[in-house]
Amino acid sequence: MSFPERRLRRLRRTPALRRLVAETRLGVDDLVAPLFVREGIDQPQPISSLPGVVQHTRESLRKELAALAGLGVPGVILFGVPAVKDPEGSGAWDPEGIVQLALADAREEVGDDLVVMADLCLDEYTDHGHCGVVRPDGTVDNDATLLLYARAAVAQARAGAAVVAPSGMMDGQVSAIRTALDDDGHTEVAVLAYAAKFASALYGPFRDAVDVTIAGGGDRKAYQQHHGNRREALAEVRADVAEGADVVMVKPALAYLDVIAEVAAEVDVPVAAYHVSGEYAMIHAAAERGWIDGPAVAIEHLTAIKRAGADVILTYFARDVAEQLGAGR
Ligand code: PBG
Repeated sequence: MSFPERRLRRLRRTPALRRLVAETRLGVDDLVAPLFVREGIDQPQPISSLPGVVQHTRESLRKELAALAGLGVPGVILFGVPAVKDPEGSGAWDPEGIVQLALADAREEVGDDLVVMADLCLDEYTDHGHCGVVRPDGTVDNDATLLLYARAAVAQARAGAAVVAPSGMMDGQVSAIRTALDDDGHTEVAVLAYAAKFASALYGPFRDAVDVTIAGGGDRKAYQQHHGNRREALAEVRADVAEGADVVMVKPALAYLDVIAEVAAEVDVPVAAYHVSGEYAMIHAAAERGWIDGPAVAIEHLTAIKRAGADVILTYFARDVAEQLGAGR
Protein backbone atom coordinates (compact mmCIF):
# COMPACT_ATOMS: atom_id res chain seq x y z
CA MET A 1 0.00 0.00 0.00
CA SER A 2 1.34 3.43 -0.80
CA PHE A 3 0.26 6.90 0.24
CA PRO A 4 0.63 9.84 -2.07
CA GLU A 5 1.28 12.18 0.84
CA ARG A 6 4.38 12.60 2.95
CA ARG A 7 4.84 9.98 5.66
CA LEU A 8 5.17 12.04 8.81
CA ARG A 9 6.23 9.12 10.98
CA ARG A 10 9.49 8.77 9.06
CA LEU A 11 11.14 11.50 11.11
CA ARG A 12 9.95 10.09 14.44
CA ARG A 13 11.74 6.77 14.16
CA THR A 14 14.73 7.17 16.50
CA PRO A 15 15.58 9.38 19.44
CA ALA A 16 18.37 11.04 17.44
CA LEU A 17 16.05 11.81 14.52
CA ARG A 18 13.46 13.21 16.89
CA ARG A 19 16.07 15.40 18.51
CA LEU A 20 17.36 16.58 15.16
CA VAL A 21 13.97 17.78 13.95
CA ALA A 22 12.63 19.07 17.26
CA GLU A 23 10.99 22.47 16.74
CA THR A 24 11.19 23.55 20.36
CA ARG A 25 14.11 22.74 22.62
CA LEU A 26 13.80 23.48 26.30
CA GLY A 27 17.20 24.38 27.68
CA VAL A 28 18.77 25.46 30.93
CA ASP A 29 19.19 28.92 29.40
CA ASP A 30 15.42 29.41 29.40
CA LEU A 31 15.05 29.18 33.15
CA VAL A 32 14.76 31.51 36.09
CA ALA A 33 14.44 30.06 39.61
CA PRO A 34 12.16 31.86 42.10
CA LEU A 35 13.73 31.76 45.59
CA PHE A 36 12.34 32.74 48.98
CA VAL A 37 14.44 34.14 51.79
CA ARG A 38 13.03 34.61 55.25
CA GLU A 39 14.21 36.84 58.04
CA GLY A 40 14.81 35.45 61.52
CA ILE A 41 15.16 31.71 60.88
CA ASP A 42 18.27 29.61 61.36
CA GLN A 43 17.22 26.57 59.31
CA PRO A 44 15.57 26.51 55.87
CA GLN A 45 11.83 25.98 56.30
CA PRO A 46 9.93 23.63 53.99
CA ILE A 47 6.74 24.94 52.37
CA SER A 48 4.14 22.19 52.60
CA SER A 49 2.21 23.19 49.48
CA LEU A 50 5.44 23.55 47.43
CA PRO A 51 7.31 20.27 47.92
CA GLY A 52 11.05 20.70 47.38
CA VAL A 53 10.90 24.51 47.72
CA VAL A 54 12.00 26.16 50.96
CA GLN A 55 12.12 29.50 52.70
CA HIS A 56 15.86 30.04 52.76
CA THR A 57 18.06 31.49 55.44
CA ARG A 58 20.59 33.98 54.12
CA GLU A 59 23.21 31.25 54.37
CA SER A 60 21.23 28.50 52.62
CA LEU A 61 20.30 31.00 49.91
CA ARG A 62 23.97 31.54 49.12
CA LYS A 63 24.45 27.78 48.71
CA GLU A 64 21.43 27.50 46.43
CA LEU A 65 22.68 30.38 44.29
CA ALA A 66 26.07 28.76 43.90
CA ALA A 67 24.44 25.44 42.97
CA LEU A 68 22.18 27.08 40.38
CA ALA A 69 25.09 29.00 38.87
CA GLY A 70 27.03 25.73 38.71
CA LEU A 71 24.17 24.09 36.83
CA GLY A 72 24.16 26.95 34.32
CA VAL A 73 20.77 28.40 35.26
CA PRO A 74 21.03 32.03 34.10
CA GLY A 75 18.65 33.79 36.47
CA VAL A 76 16.96 33.88 39.87
CA ILE A 77 14.20 36.05 41.29
CA LEU A 78 14.20 36.72 45.01
CA PHE A 79 11.20 37.12 47.29
CA GLY A 80 11.66 38.35 50.85
CA VAL A 81 9.66 37.21 53.85
CA PRO A 82 10.15 39.73 56.68
CA ALA A 83 9.89 38.82 60.36
CA VAL A 84 7.51 41.72 60.93
CA LYS A 85 4.90 43.08 58.54
CA ASP A 86 3.34 46.55 58.81
CA PRO A 87 0.53 48.49 57.06
CA GLU A 88 2.90 50.23 54.61
CA GLY A 89 5.16 47.29 53.88
CA SER A 90 8.29 49.17 54.89
CA GLY A 91 10.43 46.03 54.63
CA ALA A 92 10.20 46.48 50.87
CA TRP A 93 12.47 49.52 50.90
CA ASP A 94 14.29 49.32 54.24
CA PRO A 95 18.02 49.02 53.37
CA GLU A 96 18.23 46.43 56.16
CA GLY A 97 15.13 44.61 54.91
CA ILE A 98 15.58 40.91 54.23
CA VAL A 99 15.42 41.09 50.46
CA GLN A 100 17.92 43.95 50.31
CA LEU A 101 20.34 41.99 52.51
CA ALA A 102 19.81 38.89 50.39
CA LEU A 103 20.41 40.82 47.17
CA ALA A 104 23.73 42.06 48.51
CA ASP A 105 24.64 38.50 49.58
CA ALA A 106 23.70 37.24 46.13
CA ARG A 107 25.85 39.74 44.30
CA GLU A 108 28.74 38.91 46.58
CA GLU A 109 28.24 35.16 46.10
CA VAL A 110 27.66 34.94 42.35
CA GLY A 111 28.38 38.41 40.97
CA ASP A 112 27.12 38.58 37.41
CA ASP A 113 27.23 34.80 36.85
CA LEU A 114 23.54 34.80 37.65
CA VAL A 115 21.08 37.52 36.70
CA VAL A 116 19.83 38.48 40.14
CA MET A 117 16.28 39.79 40.01
CA ALA A 118 13.99 41.01 42.75
CA ASP A 119 10.22 40.76 42.85
CA LEU A 120 9.01 44.29 43.51
CA CYS A 121 5.76 44.39 45.41
CA LEU A 122 4.40 45.15 48.85
CA ASP A 123 2.26 42.13 49.63
CA GLU A 124 5.08 40.13 51.23
CA TYR A 125 5.70 43.07 53.58
CA THR A 126 2.24 44.41 54.42
CA ASP A 127 0.19 43.13 57.37
CA HIS A 128 -3.00 43.30 55.26
CA GLY A 129 -1.47 41.31 52.40
CA HIS A 130 -2.44 43.72 49.61
CA CYS A 131 0.02 44.83 46.93
CA GLY A 132 -0.42 48.51 47.72
CA VAL A 133 -1.57 51.24 50.07
CA VAL A 134 -5.00 50.41 51.47
CA ARG A 135 -7.43 53.28 52.02
CA PRO A 136 -9.80 53.31 55.00
CA ASP A 137 -12.57 51.94 52.76
CA GLY A 138 -10.41 48.90 51.94
CA THR A 139 -9.59 49.83 48.33
CA VAL A 140 -6.02 50.05 47.05
CA ASP A 141 -4.74 53.54 46.23
CA ASN A 142 -2.90 53.30 42.89
CA ASP A 143 -0.90 56.53 42.91
CA ALA A 144 0.09 56.42 46.58
CA THR A 145 1.37 52.90 45.92
CA LEU A 146 3.57 54.09 43.04
CA LEU A 147 5.58 56.26 45.43
CA LEU A 148 6.35 53.21 47.57
CA TYR A 149 7.24 51.08 44.55
CA ALA A 150 9.71 53.79 43.51
CA ARG A 151 11.35 53.60 46.94
CA ALA A 152 11.50 49.81 46.81
CA ALA A 153 13.05 49.90 43.33
CA VAL A 154 15.81 52.23 44.48
CA ALA A 155 16.49 50.12 47.57
CA GLN A 156 16.70 46.94 45.50
CA ALA A 157 18.97 48.56 42.93
CA ARG A 158 21.26 49.97 45.62
CA ALA A 159 21.43 46.51 47.20
CA GLY A 160 22.55 44.98 43.90
CA ALA A 161 19.51 43.85 41.92
CA ALA A 162 20.30 43.62 38.20
CA VAL A 163 16.61 43.45 37.34
CA VAL A 164 13.58 44.62 39.29
CA ALA A 165 10.26 42.96 38.62
CA PRO A 166 7.15 44.91 39.60
CA SER A 167 4.30 42.47 40.22
CA GLY A 168 1.62 44.67 41.77
CA MET A 169 -0.36 45.59 38.62
CA MET A 170 -0.71 49.26 39.52
CA ASP A 171 -1.23 51.54 36.52
CA GLY A 172 1.93 53.49 35.74
CA GLN A 173 4.21 51.31 37.86
CA VAL A 174 6.81 50.79 35.16
CA SER A 175 7.32 54.47 34.43
CA ALA A 176 7.35 55.37 38.13
CA ILE A 177 10.04 52.77 38.73
CA ARG A 178 12.07 53.62 35.63
CA THR A 179 12.14 57.28 36.58
CA ALA A 180 13.13 56.54 40.17
CA LEU A 181 15.91 54.19 39.07
CA ASP A 182 17.31 56.67 36.56
CA ASP A 183 17.14 59.55 39.03
CA ASP A 184 19.17 57.50 41.50
CA GLY A 185 21.77 56.63 38.85
CA HIS A 186 20.65 53.04 38.10
CA THR A 187 20.27 53.39 34.36
CA GLU A 188 21.67 49.86 33.93
CA VAL A 189 19.07 48.17 36.09
CA ALA A 190 16.40 46.55 33.92
CA VAL A 191 12.67 46.32 34.55
CA LEU A 192 10.93 43.00 34.01
CA ALA A 193 7.26 43.93 34.17
CA TYR A 194 4.63 41.49 35.31
CA ALA A 195 2.59 43.04 32.50
CA ALA A 196 -0.34 40.69 32.01
CA LYS A 197 -0.91 39.25 35.44
CA PHE A 198 -4.20 37.59 36.07
CA ALA A 199 -6.12 37.40 39.35
CA SER A 200 -5.55 33.66 39.45
CA ALA A 201 -6.52 30.92 41.86
CA LEU A 202 -3.15 29.34 41.08
CA TYR A 203 -1.15 31.55 43.48
CA GLY A 204 -2.33 29.71 46.61
CA PRO A 205 0.90 27.88 47.48
CA PHE A 206 2.93 31.06 46.88
CA ARG A 207 0.95 32.78 49.61
CA ASP A 208 2.01 30.01 51.99
CA ALA A 209 5.60 30.57 50.86
CA VAL A 210 5.51 34.26 51.77
CA ASP A 211 3.06 33.96 54.69
CA VAL A 212 0.47 36.20 53.08
CA THR A 213 -3.22 36.23 53.90
CA ILE A 214 -5.26 38.98 52.29
CA ALA A 215 -7.16 40.82 55.03
CA GLY A 216 -10.86 40.14 55.39
CA GLY A 217 -10.82 37.26 52.92
CA GLY A 218 -10.13 39.81 50.18
CA ASP A 219 -8.71 39.26 46.73
CA ARG A 220 -6.74 41.14 44.06
CA LYS A 221 -9.45 41.40 41.44
CA ALA A 222 -9.46 45.21 41.56
CA TYR A 223 -5.87 45.34 40.29
CA GLN A 224 -5.01 42.01 38.65
CA GLN A 225 -6.79 41.02 35.45
CA HIS A 226 -9.86 38.89 34.92
CA HIS A 227 -8.92 35.50 33.51
CA GLY A 228 -11.18 35.88 30.49
CA ASN A 229 -9.56 39.00 29.10
CA ARG A 230 -7.21 38.69 26.15
CA ARG A 231 -7.44 42.15 24.56
CA GLU A 232 -6.95 43.78 27.91
CA ALA A 233 -3.78 41.72 28.41
CA LEU A 234 -2.37 43.15 25.20
CA ALA A 235 -3.27 46.66 26.34
CA GLU A 236 -1.43 46.04 29.61
CA VAL A 237 1.62 44.78 27.74
CA ARG A 238 1.64 47.70 25.29
CA ALA A 239 1.37 50.18 28.14
CA ASP A 240 4.31 48.59 29.97
CA VAL A 241 6.49 48.58 26.84
CA ALA A 242 5.62 52.24 26.25
CA GLU A 243 6.58 53.00 29.86
CA GLY A 244 9.99 51.43 29.37
CA ALA A 245 9.69 47.77 30.37
CA ASP A 246 12.75 45.83 29.19
CA VAL A 247 11.01 42.45 29.47
CA VAL A 248 7.28 41.77 29.74
CA MET A 249 5.75 38.83 31.55
CA VAL A 250 2.54 36.85 31.33
CA LYS A 251 1.42 35.07 34.49
CA PRO A 252 0.31 32.34 35.12
CA ALA A 253 1.57 30.44 32.11
CA LEU A 254 -0.32 27.32 31.09
CA ALA A 255 -3.84 28.66 31.25
CA TYR A 256 -2.66 31.69 29.25
CA LEU A 257 -0.68 30.17 26.38
CA ASP A 258 -2.84 32.08 23.90
CA VAL A 259 -1.89 35.33 25.62
CA ILE A 260 1.82 34.41 25.58
CA ALA A 261 1.59 33.68 21.85
CA GLU A 262 -0.14 36.97 21.08
CA VAL A 263 2.23 38.98 23.21
CA ALA A 264 5.23 37.33 21.56
CA ALA A 265 3.84 38.22 18.13
CA GLU A 266 3.13 41.80 19.18
CA VAL A 267 6.18 43.11 21.03
CA ASP A 268 9.87 43.45 20.26
CA VAL A 269 11.11 42.93 23.82
CA PRO A 270 11.77 39.53 25.40
CA VAL A 271 8.69 37.76 26.73
CA ALA A 272 8.73 35.96 30.06
CA ALA A 273 6.13 33.61 31.50
CA TYR A 274 5.72 32.51 35.10
CA HIS A 275 4.85 28.86 35.70
CA VAL A 276 3.38 29.64 39.08
CA SER A 277 3.15 27.90 42.42
CA GLY A 278 -0.23 26.26 41.78
CA GLU A 279 0.99 24.87 38.47
CA TYR A 280 4.00 23.36 40.23
CA ALA A 281 1.95 22.07 43.16
CA MET A 282 -0.59 20.32 40.94
CA ILE A 283 2.13 18.35 39.19
CA HIS A 284 3.66 17.33 42.51
CA ALA A 285 0.34 16.35 44.04
CA ALA A 286 -0.65 14.11 41.13
CA ALA A 287 2.83 12.62 40.87
CA GLU A 288 2.86 11.80 44.59
CA ARG A 289 -0.26 9.70 44.06
CA GLY A 290 1.41 7.94 41.18
CA TRP A 291 -1.15 9.35 38.76
CA ILE A 292 1.31 11.09 36.46
CA ASP A 293 5.05 11.02 35.78
CA GLY A 294 5.96 14.32 37.45
CA PRO A 295 9.32 15.10 35.80
CA ALA A 296 7.93 14.24 32.35
CA VAL A 297 4.88 16.46 32.85
CA ALA A 298 7.12 19.27 34.07
CA ILE A 299 9.20 19.14 30.89
CA GLU A 300 6.07 18.92 28.76
CA HIS A 301 4.53 21.97 30.42
CA LEU A 302 7.66 24.07 30.26
CA THR A 303 8.23 23.13 26.62
CA ALA A 304 4.65 24.17 25.84
CA ILE A 305 5.29 27.56 27.43
CA LYS A 306 8.36 27.98 25.28
CA ARG A 307 6.52 26.77 22.17
CA ALA A 308 3.85 29.41 22.80
CA GLY A 309 6.54 32.07 22.56
CA ALA A 310 8.15 32.64 25.95
CA ASP A 311 11.85 33.49 25.88
CA VAL A 312 12.23 33.30 29.66
CA ILE A 313 10.43 30.89 32.01
CA LEU A 314 10.20 31.42 35.73
CA THR A 315 9.66 28.05 37.35
CA TYR A 316 10.08 26.25 40.67
CA PHE A 317 11.30 23.33 38.55
CA ALA A 318 14.38 25.26 37.42
CA ARG A 319 16.87 23.30 39.47
CA ASP A 320 15.27 19.88 38.80
CA VAL A 321 15.08 20.57 35.08
CA ALA A 322 18.64 21.85 34.95
CA GLU A 323 19.78 18.66 36.66
CA GLN A 324 17.65 16.51 34.36
CA LEU A 325 18.86 18.24 31.19
CA GLY A 326 22.45 18.26 32.41
CA ALA A 327 22.29 14.52 33.05
CA GLY A 328 21.43 13.92 29.37
CA ARG A 329 18.19 12.73 27.83
C1 PBG B 1 3.10 39.32 44.25
C2 PBG B 1 3.37 38.03 43.59
C3 PBG B 1 2.57 36.89 43.61
C4 PBG B 1 3.26 35.92 42.87
C5 PBG B 1 4.43 36.49 42.42
N1 PBG B 1 4.49 37.80 42.86
C6 PBG B 1 1.31 36.62 44.33
C7 PBG B 1 0.10 37.37 44.06
O1 PBG B 1 -0.02 38.16 43.13
O2 PBG B 1 -0.84 37.17 44.84
C8 PBG B 1 2.76 34.53 42.64
C9 PBG B 1 3.79 33.53 42.22
C10 PBG B 1 3.34 32.11 42.30
O3 PBG B 1 2.17 31.78 42.55
O4 PBG B 1 4.22 31.27 42.10
N2 PBG B 1 4.21 39.78 44.99
